[in-house]
Amino acid sequence: MPGQDIDQKSIRQRPNYAVSAKSDEEFKQLAKFGRDELDIAEVEMPGLIALREQYEGKKPLKGARISGSLHMTIQTAVLMETLKELGASVRWCSCNVFSTQDHAAVAMAAAGIPTFAWKRESLREYWWCTYQCATWAADDSKEETGPNLIVDDGGDLTLLIHEGRRAEEIYASNQTLPEITASMSDEEKIVYELIGNSIQVDPTKFTRMSKGVFGVSEETTTGVHRLVQMANAGKLLFPAINVNDSVTKAKFDNVYGCRHSLPDGIMRATDVMIAGKRALVCGYGDVGKGSAQALVNAGARVCVAEVDPICALQALMEGIDVVRLADVISDVDIIITATGNKGIVMLDDMKKMKNNAILGNIGHFDNEIDMAGLATLGEEAKHKIKDEVHRFIVDPETNRGIIVLAEGRLLNLGCATGHPSFVMSCSFSNQVVAQVELWKEKGSTKYKNQVYVLPKELDEAVARAHLGKLGAKLTVLTDEQAKYIGVKKEGPYKPDTYRY
Ligand code: NAD
Ligand code: ADE
Repeated sequence: MPGQDIDQKSIRQRPNYAVSAKSDEEFKQLAKFGRDELDIAEVEMPGLIALREQYEGKKPLKGARISGSLHMTIQTAVLMETLKELGASVRWCSCNVFSTQDHAAVAMAAAGIPTFAWKRESLREYWWCTYQCATWAADDSKEETGPNLIVDDGGDLTLLIHEGRRAEEIYASNQTLPEITASMSDEEKIVYELIGNSIQVDPTKFTRMSKGVFGVSEETTTGVHRLVQMANAGKLLFPAINVNDSVTKAKFDNVYGCRHSLPDGIMRATDVMIAGKRALVCGYGDVGKGSAQALVNAGARVCVAEVDPICALQALMEGIDVVRLADVISDVDIIITATGNKGIVMLDDMKKMKNNAILGNIGHFDNEIDMAGLATLGEEAKHKIKDEVHRFIVDPETNRGIIVLAEGRLLNLGCATGHPSFVMSCSFSNQVVAQVELWKEKGSTKYKNQVYVLPKELDEAVARAHLGKLGAKLTVLTDEQAKYIGVKKEGPYKPDTYRY
């Protein structure tokens, strides 16, 4: 099988799953632990449970084969089981090498949901898992197939299918396989090698697969950027729903989720006293706002770096200084990148940092921090303190070093367990609504190969589903009041231009 590259002995591999469990006994224990935490999470995920109730007996996803590439956590397991309850067949991998909670992955495997994920995958293993997630075994008479819907977080599964199909087209025209060049990153080399191997086994796999996909729902800001670029270039092969920009996603998960899970990650990794420290947050968008607020609340003296004057002004209105990284790099104790951009903290910057200053990223990809630059310092500069926590000596003469979290990958999922269930219920309710919509419209021309957001009625419905759990009682408009402000009594209550 292409990309057959599982290095780790502890991985239990079966035709329908690959998860971390050294023995039958450990598999059983992890499955039970996962199930116990799932039961608790369900109580904290009222949006997903309301959707299960709303669709009880109706199976709106019957016939759907959903491949998901999204952090394999307990919260995601509740999403997977919700999709299954609504009638879908589900297949899963994680979208990050460090974010899997092994007990969640094992619980899914034990429940018969094909799952390919474990904590601390190598990059080669990660892409092997993504490939398995995309590959649906033949059922009886039919040939091997693929998903007809995708849940993506960051766009790696969508990328594999698009790049796979592009490479197959080139191969069909001139029999050349993807070229692996020295200028490619290690990860690019792995992806194109995998695609090349796949072509040699089945030269039309991704071409057939891409034709069967009715759409993708994308979870995060960075994944949406990728989709918009593909759509603008006329290269998107199927419709996409941008879940990130539902208000009940970006303004909750990205802000309040990070406000919870950023300090959780820093504290589990380092147990450093945050109060009194100087912290720099790079990027004051949704994630940066939640991150900065958490650090302020913990007593840090926070400043931010921004390129956007509006976000910079927002920071100032919150009493937070706006600075340039170069001006504060030698003074700060904690630096967090939250830009979704690349090349934010470079090796030369790191060489100026204080001894044992902490450097972490909460943006989707690991290119915000110059990990490639750090690697040039050599293995002798890298000291493992514990899993996902390393001290890099940046000045060998004085032994000055910096603490790097989760090897530059999103630290809230690498060093902790990501956002808590309640806020993920908001995000994932939007995912379920998006999947049902894409499946409902599969035969129609409603969606072109473009990127869409969900209507505000559905966004409001997601919020509404979460109020009861917190004991909220909404005020109801009178007929006169509704008329006066020009809305329907039952909503939507704001125009699409409203910014919350
Ligand atoms: P956003 O667009 O709201 O914010 C990013 C901000 O970074 C913007 O304000 C932008 O102006 C600023 N920025 C861009 N380049 C910069 C630079 N060179 N220096 C300083 N600032 C710069 O995006 P967001 O929703 O906040 O997401 C940020 C990242 O976090 C994305 O990669 C997203 O996918 C990811 N994300 C992670 C989690 C998580 O749990 N770790 C959750 C949600 C989103
Ligand atoms: N993104 C942030 N936190 C998460 C979680 N707990 N599960 C899945 N995706 C996440």
